[in-house]
Amino acid sequence: MKKTTNQALVIFGASGDLTYRKLIPAVFDLYMNDSLPEGYAVLGVSRSAFSDKQFRNKMKEGIRLFAHYKDTGKEKIDDFLSRLYYLSIDTGKGEEYLHVKEKLTRLNKKLNLEQNYIFYLSTPPSLYTTIPKYLYGQGLTLQQKGFRRIIIEKPFGHDLASAIDLNAQLLEFFQEDQIYRIDHYLGKETVQNLMVTRFANGIYEPLWNRNFIQHVEITAAESIGVEDRGGYYDHSGALRDMVQNHLLQVASLVAMEPPTKITPEDIRYEKMKVFRSLRPFSKNDLKMNVIRGQYTDATVRGKQYNGYRDEINVDKNSRTETYMAMKIFIDNWRWKGVPFYIRTGKRLPTNVTEVVIHFRPSPQKLFKSADGTTNSDNQLILRIQPDEGILLKTGMKVPGRGYKVKSVNMDYHYSELNDHYIPSAYERLILDSMNGDNTLYMSNEAAEETWKFVQPVLDYWENDKDAPLHGYPSGSWGPDVADDLIEGKENTWRYPCKNLAEDGIYCEL
Ligand code: BG6
Repeated sequence: MKKTTNQALVIFGASGDLTYRKLIPAVFDLYMNDSLPEGYAVLGVSRSAFSDKQFRNKMKEGIRLFAHYKDTGKEKIDDFLSRLYYLSIDTGKGEEYLHVKEKLTRLNKKLNLEQNYIFYLSTPPSLYTTIPKYLYGQGLTLQQKGFRRIIIEKPFGHDLASAIDLNAQLLEFFQEDQIYRIDHYLGKETVQNLMVTRFANGIYEPLWNRNFIQHVEITAAESIGVEDRGGYYDHSGALRDMVQNHLLQVASLVAMEPPTKITPEDIRYEKMKVFRSLRPFSKNDLKMNVIRGQYTDATVRGKQYNGYRDEINVDKNSRTETYMAMKIFIDNWRWKGVPFYIRTGKRLPTNVTEVVIHFRPSPQKLFKSADGTTNSDNQLILRIQPDEGILLKTGMKVPGRGYKVKSVNMDYHYSELNDHYIPSAYERLILDSMNGDNTLYMSNEAAEETWKFVQPVLDYWENDKDAPLHGYPSGSWGPDVADDLIEGKENTWRYPCKNLAEDGIYCEL
């Protein structure tokens, strides 16, 4: 494989959880896969006072816990750690960025980094404009000698106005092609596979439209609660945390037209067309097609769980949603009239992220299904996680007299590709940024367009005292009114069971 050019990754917020759990383990896995260039360094920058040695020791722990190659021998890990450096500065003070520049100059001499730097902002959002401004102040954003890129973590803005403002401010210090807005969902192999499934196979695409698809369901269910992130989450909620970014990105990959070529511009262009076609919520849609919920305390399989309002750093009267479901439409030629149902929540019965394509039933119900119903819905389930794979539900004759139909599963698991290494989302995205490929990063237009779409929901929930917030017991599938969203008497959400192939409300989880 072609090696990337020499460079450094400068992580702001290096003493935080993301660096420890995700970023350094991902860079270590890149090292193990021989994807790092000869001249390479990671410079961690934060307020906390660490020495290089202390930083390396902490990162070693992170690698041992979270890297794919966590069981690697000490020698290799130590060799990798020798490329890690640390600098403690007050990131809120412009003059302190001189130390960043000086440190980088020294590392450049020592490791021949060719003055190529990627700045990764893994900090609170309040620093998203401060850091670029001060880097600019030291001339560190100008690409006269090497390349300069910046990766911005989520949340990219808090609403439409702040996202526009953030984009405008960033563009004062960096050009758009230097800015990498990360959405880690796009780095997931199975999310990228959505495009491949659609456009590498002749059999799906002819069916992929309003004539054959009745509705589309996108679910991201998590069994964990807000854990120790109450302070952040209580100002965010499920819509900002999961839907505006991750799930609308997934929806765009399900709905987009085939790109002319597989280039960042062509793919981003097609995705943008989907965002622009999202039907804006009317007042009635806000009342009828959007549901929010919040988990309440419950005992699940013998274990007692707190309600959301009793979580640490959460307001006792909080009206933040930990669950949201909505019915939306994409008003274009392909999707006119096809509902897309999106749902996400915390403290649901299981962990699963999947896209379910519900095909229209056969025009005549010739056969009865084995369980007495006439529902013969064919479903294509694109399982994003866990146990990534593709499942097709199709009707088969039950052996014996008569013609009874049973739904059976044609189930393919990614794990069967066991000679293939599946990189983590962060590993893939960091490597892409090192190579200057921003296909899997969000454009400024996409960030703004998706905020524009969800803004009426945010306003409705914030301003209308009558906007309902439904409690749901921890360990349940969310508010039961969510079932009313789905059109058609026989249709409900899919409720995946333990093996993620069978489904139903009452099953083993
Ligand atoms: C993050 C959200 O962006 O995505 C979290 O802030 C959520 O609340 C997480 O748990 C889910 O990511 P994944 O990769 O575990 O599906």
